Amino acid sequence: MRKSVGVIAVLMLLVGTMGFSADFPDAASLPSRPELPDPFVMLDGTKVSTVADWNAKRKPELQALFQNYMYGYLPPKPQKWAVEEVLFSDAMFMGGKATLSESRLAFFGPDLKHRLYVLLVVPNKRSGPVPVFVGMNFCGNHALADHPSIHIPDGWVYKSCGGSENDKATEKGRGTQADVWNLDLIVDRGYGLACFYSGDLDPDTADFSDGIEPAFYKPGQTAPAPSDPGAIATWAWGYHRVVDFLVEKQAATIDPKRIAAVGHSRNGKTTLLAAALDERIALAIPHQAGCGGTAPDRVAIDRKDVETIRRINTVFPHWFCDNFPLFNEAPDKLPFDQHCLVAICAPRAVLFSNATEDQWANPDGQFEMLKAADPVYRQFGVGLDATERPGLRKLLDSRLGYYIRPGKHSMDREDWGIFLDYADKQLPAAK
Ligand code: GCU
Repeated sequence: MRKSVGVIAVLMLLVGTMGFSADFPDAASLPSRPELPDPFVMLDGTKVSTVADWNAKRKPELQALFQNYMYGYLPPKPQKWAVEEVLFSDAMFMGGKATLSESRLAFFGPDLKHRLYVLLVVPNKRSGPVPVFVGMNFCGNHALADHPSIHIPDGWVYKSCGGSENDKATEKGRGTQADVWNLDLIVDRGYGLACFYSGDLDPDTADFSDGIEPAFYKPGQTAPAPSDPGAIATWAWGYHRVVDFLVEKQAATIDPKRIAAVGHSRNGKTTLLAAALDERIALAIPHQAGCGGTAPDRVAIDRKDVETIRRINTVFPHWFCDNFPLFNEAPDKLPFDQHCLVAICAPRAVLFSNATEDQWANPDGQFEMLKAADPVYRQFGVGLDATERPGLRKLLDSRLGYYIRPGKHSMDREDWGIFLDYADKQLPAAK
């Protein structure tokens, strides 16, 4: 008989190193289930029917299942971390409307050579700690604002980033993503933003040697084990470390009870995983996240109009753990679908936002995932307050939320207006 989930959860906490995998069956021996798995039914077939059993048994089992078969187990929190340096703090940012600062975080036990740079903007006009978004960016913190003091990433950056030369960021990139992050809008609406660059932890290349992953290998280990983290799990770990920073070092300025996580596309997949594994995240906005995040895994494997597991694992072999491609030809064998990742977040707020020209991310399938997560939310008395996908530009702002606008795969000012409206509605009230 397999060990109880409680024991597994405790073991995971105790072992806390890579290469550990729960006592789950091999992918090949899992049964086919073409229908969406019932979120209340445990892997051994027993059904949970109370909130207490959901919280104590099924939720931790799902957290382990997603890590085991799809994303890989997140690295543990290092025994120690520190703000190694506050690079600068500018209280005159935006003509004195906000304070912009950047902190360099260091991690020990294991000792990481990587540093995480956290850019923090907070409105100066505030009557108490403010709600805050945590976001992961594609191009480096310096891309968010044309400010001379912001650190420029030392390592690899995407070729598509403004100012990128030979895969490295340059001065020319400053402020090139200002219209993606819209700091002025966030500040005007009374929110803060803490942002970090994914590549500080693991550059988005099919190679882990430049990321933090090897620092967590067991003695003698030279390559990832089948359920060691892919890039998305590693980046989700980054969200958690920024939340540590906010909760443990910034609680006078930001409100630890009002932390929202946001990310676009591959960063949105990361956002949902980060929220599913960290209760401190009160609200999640996986924006246009699609396959491997908010869209169903169970789509016909030969579909060309939406992304499939086979396609994502082929083009981006490093995003997920090595167990995940075992489901390329048989997504029906997965013991979960993405509605279960949402369900783990219950009763916290989750908004799926989309665009009509981004069919690749399967906006209709995403709505089905919310519908299928709804029964779990209903146990907590909240959920998805619609049975049909809302029309264009109509924000469904229930605890499970949905939004779709015309236009392309991007994150823009209109999207931020919606994110802020949704956060106003769904974050807990200030104390
Ligand atoms: C590709 C990929 C998507 C991903 C997107 C992005 O299109 O297929 O899964 O979401 O890149 O991150 O922009």
